[in-house]
Amino acid sequence: MSDQPTRRRFLRSAFGSGLALWSTRPFASAGAGPARHSGGPALPPELEAGTLVAGRTTRPVWPDRPTELWTFGGVYPSPTLRVRRGEMLNVRLENRLPEPTNVHWHGLLAPSDMDGLPMDLAAPGAALDYVFRVDQRAGSYWYHPHPDMRTAFQVYSGMAGFLIVEDEEERALGLPSGEFDVPILLQDRRLLADRSFGYQPSVMDLMNGYLGEVGLANGVPDASLRVTAGLHRLRLLNGSNARIFRLGFRDARPFDVIATDGGLLDRPRRTTTLDLGPGERVELLVDLSRDPLGRAVTLESLPFQMAAPMLGGMGGPFAQGASMPLVSLEVERAGGPAGRVPERLAHLEPFPATRAERTRAFTLEMGPGMMGGPPTINGRRFDAGRVDARVPAGALELWEVSNQSTMPHPFHAHGVQFEVLERIGGGVGIGPQDLGLKDTVLLWPNERLRLGVRIGPHRGLFVLHCHNLEHEDAGMMSLFEIV
Ligand code: C2O
Ligand code: CU
Ligand code: CU
Repeated sequence: MSDQPTRRRFLRSAFGSGLALWSTRPFASAGAGPARHSGGPALPPELEAGTLVAGRTTRPVWPDRPTELWTFGGVYPSPTLRVRRGEMLNVRLENRLPEPTNVHWHGLLAPSDMDGLPMDLAAPGAALDYVFRVDQRAGSYWYHPHPDMRTAFQVYSGMAGFLIVEDEEERALGLPSGEFDVPILLQDRRLLADRSFGYQPSVMDLMNGYLGEVGLANGVPDASLRVTAGLHRLRLLNGSNARIFRLGFRDARPFDVIATDGGLLDRPRRTTTLDLGPGERVELLVDLSRDPLGRAVTLESLPFQMAAPMLGGMGGPFAQGASMPLVSLEVERAGGPAGRVPERLAHLEPFPATRAERTRAFTLEMGPGMMGGPPTINGRRFDAGRVDARVPAGALELWEVSNQSTMPHPFHAHGVQFEVLERIGGGVGIGPQDLGLKDTVLLWPNERLRLGVRIGPHRGLFVLHCHNLEHEDAGMMSLFEIV
């Protein structure tokens, strides 16, 4: 493959895998007739220098009535940004929303003032420029707003998209590309009578996180994607506020996990199911080369039981662990490349735990009692005026994160990447989604994790927090400084 065509492809799909995807191979809602997502607003032509307008938009999410959304770039999901390793990300955010917002580049090691911290906001009518060099492994990163106490609402209202980094190491592997490389944003939503994305969390919702009973793939309920037979690379991002997906195919076919949050694993791991918490990404190769034309291969979230019941009781379509279909891959055309799962993927240096300079402990709590208390980290709620830890740039550290509550928490840190060294006390081992370089990891109730943390190169303020967005907004977030 020569450089030029690839380059053009990047530019064309720059602000919109979402859109590029819809127009060429639309997701269609089952039974809704022709795909509804073709067309849409004109796309900014460039990715490295583009403007993302945060604004209100009305789009058809369900077939019967339009939904008012808050979006980046007027589309839902937000446009997919593609950047090559070593290039500049250059995005201007224009805020046309009625309240402050910003952009956080989840998983990227951005300079502190470019990171989209909860207090670095664009007021309504104002703009912010995000300009920094992306020097990071190829992978499926993402972006979303991060204003203190309003992240859950804004993300739920439709603001989230992929940020895909590409590099030579990955390109050399010849993984499925073009139409065989499919980013899918997975989110749950409530089906309300007026078809709005109404966000009115009850006290119970604030404790559990806001859960919906319908799974959306790239913004489409009951999504189906018409595909050509062949090996496919699916980039799966859990952009839900609180929903944990136990991913698997309905026919239980095995797939190969090739990448997690921070890019490729050392080698593929074959499995039939894995858990993906809010904020986490996983990439897998699934073989659709032997399926007869007309077959629908459905990715779904499989049911599971929480070890300790969620507050408000178990069961029901909203409960954590409820099953839901996510997307059907409908094999429509023959003739795709058979493809081959590479035996080796990338060189990954295992975390040198013996060289770690110190151990830090983070305790996630919800307070005592049946109803719990406010979510905290090390007993404190987020305060933008208080720095809870100072960590040296470039250091290797061991972080022990313990979940001393009866609900799951996806732990996420800005400004660093880590490896999951050990899962203790939760009754589950390290799964394929835990391998490789991570920025988000799910903790089950009463579980403790040992993380090998590589502190990033950029000095300044960053946050770590629970990526259950209701917990984050309630203060399960801590400000730290890389010094
Ligand atoms: Cu995706 Cu601080 O978050
Ligand atoms: Cu982040
Ligand atoms: Cu939490």
